[in-house]
Amino acid sequence: MGEIVRLQKYIAMCGVASRRAAETMIAEGRVSVNGEKITEQGVKIEIGADKVTVDGEVIKSSAKMYYIMLNKPVGYVTTVKDQFDRPTVIDLIKTDLKDKRIFPVGRLDYETEGLLLLTNDGDFTYKVTHPKFHMDKTYLAAVKGGMSIHDMNRLREGVKLDDGFKTSPAKCEITDVKNGYTFVKLTIHEGKNRQVRRMFEALGKEIAALQRLSIGTVELGNLPLGRWRHLTSHEVNYLKNL
Ligand code: URA
Repeated sequence: MGEIVRLQKYIAMCGVASRRAAETMIAEGRVSVNGEKITEQGVKIEIGADKVTVDGEVIKSSAKMYYIMLNKPVGYVTTVKDQFDRPTVIDLIKTDLKDKRIFPVGRLDYETEGLLLLTNDGDFTYKVTHPKFHMDKTYLAAVKGGMSIHDMNRLREGVKLDDGFKTSPAKCEITDVKNGYTFVKLTIHEGKNRQVRRMFEALGKEIAALQRLSIGTVELGNLPLGRWRHLTSHEVNYLKNL
């Protein structure tokens, strides 16, 4: 199934007019979907499945948008090119999606693994990363030593980071305790640099391993480490429509 978008957005994606001008074209009765004239706003179409015409001419989206998730391993930088020539997350996808100008959505540290989104859609990146959209991100941290109820409650209330920033209340739970490590599942919606590590540092704790499990309701699931997959149209629409 193709991506579902609003008609005026699709017209803009095809480079026919801006979204605003596309709305005028629709109101003027110049646009048809599958042969039927559309004059009201808000109609949605499926890219690749619905036939859209403007003034009787079929229009097509020129730039195909890619939305993918990668299970990033430790030891890869989240940039397109690294100044120290270290392996980048793009190296893990580029044999399959060469020259597609795909870039990472947000960042994971060099030592962090797990769910990373990549796309060539700037609007999408803005939606997923801008703090005003409060996107929940869930991590699993292997913490050296124990975590007291007091430590957990401090995460739940918000902690002061080394630069004085007070984090918003986080959701957290202990999922396992073994071999001297406490495994903590933590959900935050802010995206300060190295935030999760710094939250635990504020408690005097050290993280031995950190993995991102989900962004909103989009989960890493059982995607193998170092592998990627296309997001489903359901996942793309969910993230875009937040
Ligand atoms: N918080 C961190 O400390 N590191 C990451 O990579 C992501 C969130």
